[in-house]
Amino acid sequence: MFYEPSKNDHGLKRPPFKSIAVPRPIAWISTLSEDGVPNLAPFSQFSNLGFEPPYIMLTINQHGKKKDTVVNIERTGEFVHNMVPLELIEQMNITGGTFPPEVDEFELAGLTKAPARLVKPYLVAESPVQLECKYVQTVHLPAGGANAIDIIIGLVVGVHIKDEFIREDGKLDIERIRPVARMGYSDYTTVDKVFEMQAYSAGSGANVALEGITGVYK
Ligand SMILES: Cc1cc2nc3c(=O)[nH]c(=O)nc-3n(C[C@H](O)[C@H](O)[C@H](O)COP(=O)(O)O)c2cc1C
Repeated sequence: MFYEPSKNDHGLKRPPFKSIAVPRPIAWISTLSEDGVPNLAPFSQFSNLGFEPPYIMLTINQHGKKKDTVVNIERTGEFVHNMVPLELIEQMNITGGTFPPEVDEFELAGLTKAPARLVKPYLVAESPVQLECKYVQTVHLPAGGANAIDIIIGLVVGVHIKDEFIREDGKLDIERIRPVARMGYSDYTTVDKVFEMQAYSAGSGANVALEGITGVYK
């Protein structure tokens, strides 16, 4: 089949595009309003933007107005990403509801707040990995009508990893963390199987490329 997203002429019950860029890891973003109200929400349009330095991006869709997360990050300049393991999916799902800015989603979902070290927003204490981030910039994309897409870019300034999730060989124990990721529709997946493959390495500069891929610096 072939279809043009602008025409939505796929003939299927639901547009398949969201099922193509999969799996999408879930950014579970903690912020504070200017008045200090904690906010927590999931965003699956999430990725790193380079490693050195480590930037991350969140794509947040406006529905008539900026979401609380965007407002908070742009006003306070800080946020925290919390990794979502399989056992926290129910809590994560609750925080995806639409609540007014005065609602503390940590309380709503029964989550524990832990202090961060370099930024003010709280960590989700139950999460195995958290990234403390400083706001860098917002990129705006048009999205039809008065709407826009806010792409938030942040610089990771601090990384928390619970020691129990670091294996003896020094790797993160992803199979034990079982991070959750979004698929299309109401589908989710989790990473519970990892396999290894050595990077193909040839030509001049191959060692540098290999170091970039594997993260091993000698
Ligand atoms: C698993 C999951 C993934 C989501 N991903 C996104 C996303 O990538 N972008 C977005 O704008 N909203 C996404 N949402 C919806 C937001 O979490 C929701 O609009 C939330 O209320 C925003 O909170 P805020 O207004 O406090 O920022 C997602 C929701 C769930 C449950």
